[in-house]
Amino acid sequence: MANPSLLILPGDGIGPEVMAEVRKVADWFGSQGLVFDIDEDLVGGAAYDAHGTPLTDATMEKAQAADAVLLGAVGGPKYDTLDFSVKPERGLLRLRKEMDLYANLRPAQCFDALADFSSLKTEVVSGLDIMIVRELTSGVYFGEPRGIVTEGNERVGINTQRYTESEIARVARSAFELARRRGNKVCSMEKANVMESGILWREVVQKVHDEEYPDIELSHMYADAGAMQLTRWPKQFDVIVTDNLFGDLLSDLAAMLTGSLGMLPSASLGAPMANGRPKALYEPVHGSAPDIAGQGKANPIACILSFAMALRYSFDRGDEAARLEKAVEAVLAKGLRTADLLGEEGRQPVSTSEMGDAIVAALAES
Ligand code: NAI
Ligand code: MG
Repeated sequence: MANPSLLILPGDGIGPEVMAEVRKVADWFGSQGLVFDIDEDLVGGAAYDAHGTPLTDATMEKAQAADAVLLGAVGGPKYDTLDFSVKPERGLLRLRKEMDLYANLRPAQCFDALADFSSLKTEVVSGLDIMIVRELTSGVYFGEPRGIVTEGNERVGINTQRYTESEIARVARSAFELARRRGNKVCSMEKANVMESGILWREVVQKVHDEEYPDIELSHMYADAGAMQLTRWPKQFDVIVTDNLFGDLLSDLAAMLTGSLGMLPSASLGAPMANGRPKALYEPVHGSAPDIAGQGKANPIACILSFAMALRYSFDRGDEAARLEKAVEAVLAKGLRTADLLGEEGRQPVSTSEMGDAIVAALAES
């Protein structure tokens, strides 16, 4: 059988720095017999500099063909004055759109060594491991009509929340599939009390559940109550599924329960491919961090944990993903911290590559 294929797009700023550490991890798995066919290409500003476009058609084709795509980050001040059509972000948006990645997975997982880094009490976050599934390709960010129009003597800003049954059903399936690999529990959030799109959302999620996933425990919650519950007692949840707008807010909220931007991975999944696994793009939540780029200060863990998600969801290597996550936990438990994970206590931070090396060493010891 062919090796699993991975397209790596480091991008701009700290993207290439954190991706270099992922390469070390992937190489280590390769030395253990889990070999990936890795191809590397340009995206964002780096692609613009080389080709005049933030994503070439050739790179797009490679992304469509790969078992998984891993992206670093795009953008930076150098590109701020570019025309909208060739801005670095357009490269990322094109990938998401053409791969039709409708389910955005944002875990909020608390590493014990960082529990005191959270703004919440340690007992509220310690051991936390939840997953927010946000619908990514429809809803109020895309619905028509939209725009700013003039009515009488004032302007009106218009956006439309719109969901079709099939759009709701497919993201619900992503959440239920995920729940089967985790805690068998899904909470769906909308505002069915005040929005028709929320009423339809609730109906369709319930129908998909009853017909296809009766083994999963399903509950429904209004999204505003969900925000309260997420900060009050987040451990009551396993998988949360919600629309694009609420998911944007709730996933940022949930992520911050556990600490730093430098720790947060994500996945965006689409329809199943011929091999049964979904189309997939993995990326850290953070951006290109131009303020620290090129200084060896970036925390590579968000990107390394994104690779762990690829192991689990694209390569069916849940054991190896867990082993990698445990290696990260072990390194943090030893007290190693990149600068973003240090408070004011004056401890000496480790560099990007020292953190990557330590994680590989912990893997080898595990
Ligand atoms: P950012 O996430 O790049 O940085 C925000 C702050 O967090 C900065 O102080 C940065 O140093 C710090 N930070 C981020 N990642 C870190 C890491 N791994 N280790 C240590 N510290 C880290 O967001 P910002 O500053 O708003 O945007 C910078 C550029 O990145 C912009 O061009 C923006 O458009 C782009 N961007 C790209 C994204 C992507 O590629 N998915 C997402 C967000 C922003
Ligand atoms: Mg957001």
